[in-house]
Amino acid sequence: MAVDRLPLIAGNWKMNLDHLQAIAFTQKLAWTLRDARHDYASTEVALFPPFTDLRSIQNLIEGDKFDLAYGGQDLSAHDAGAYTGEVSGGFLRSLGSTYVLVGHSERRQYHGETDDMVRAKVSAALRNDLTPIICVGETEADLAQYGPSAVPVTQLSAALNGVSPAEIVIAYEPVWAIGTGKAASEEQAQQVSAALRATVTEVWGLDSGDATRILYGGSVRASNISALMRQPDVDGALVGGASLDVTEFSSICRFLKHVV
Ligand code: PGA
Repeated sequence: MAVDRLPLIAGNWKMNLDHLQAIAFTQKLAWTLRDARHDYASTEVALFPPFTDLRSIQNLIEGDKFDLAYGGQDLSAHDAGAYTGEVSGGFLRSLGSTYVLVGHSERRQYHGETDDMVRAKVSAALRNDLTPIICVGETEADLAQYGPSAVPVTQLSAALNGVSPAEIVIAYEPVWAIGTGKAASEEQAQQVSAALRATVTEVWGLDSGDATRILYGGSVRASNISALMRQPDVDGALVGGASLDVTEFSSICRFLKHVV
């Protein structure tokens, strides 16, 4: 973690928690972090609930002035029109979203999202004043065949192709580490994060490379966050399963208290 990049801990709820559960959960999380005197200026916290929760989350966070950011788990590549079932970046923005996940491996795997679609969604996010969190990562077969960096770097290059420099966040999520309890080693997280940063530098220049935050995702827990965050190119985490447990997630958010 570098001092001049604000660490970001992001909770990807996936298809869990309806809007009533979301309200109770978010309230409890905010109170737990407040009681622990969490310093949001030192570590940003963002939530990625299902679309149907966003309005309730917005009302709660704005009403109680919680310092939590939030966003969608996906967005349409289009801004409006006959696209049944899709949600535009503009809609997410008008609900107060700051971020949006793009190209999560579950979107790529179960919904056939290609690198071209990911790039179109990155553009749609930026067009609508959202910061895309671009997810990349290799499968177990990719890892065996190409090593850890090649596939994530290719996915990132494709996602940025033709896109002008902008604020983005990258999430390196090895597919084999998602939901398995088997996180990548901190050495691998660092190696791939450094390669991804080099890619941003190559495409957009040194300033963008230095400024872009790179998260690690895949079986992040309170027990492994410290080692990951000690890596110079790891600036935060995208947390799935553990983001649904207030105690565990708030402990991950407070990693600065247990990084030695
Ligand atoms: P996990 O999921 O923390 O449950 O491994 C991470 C993700 O899919 O973003």
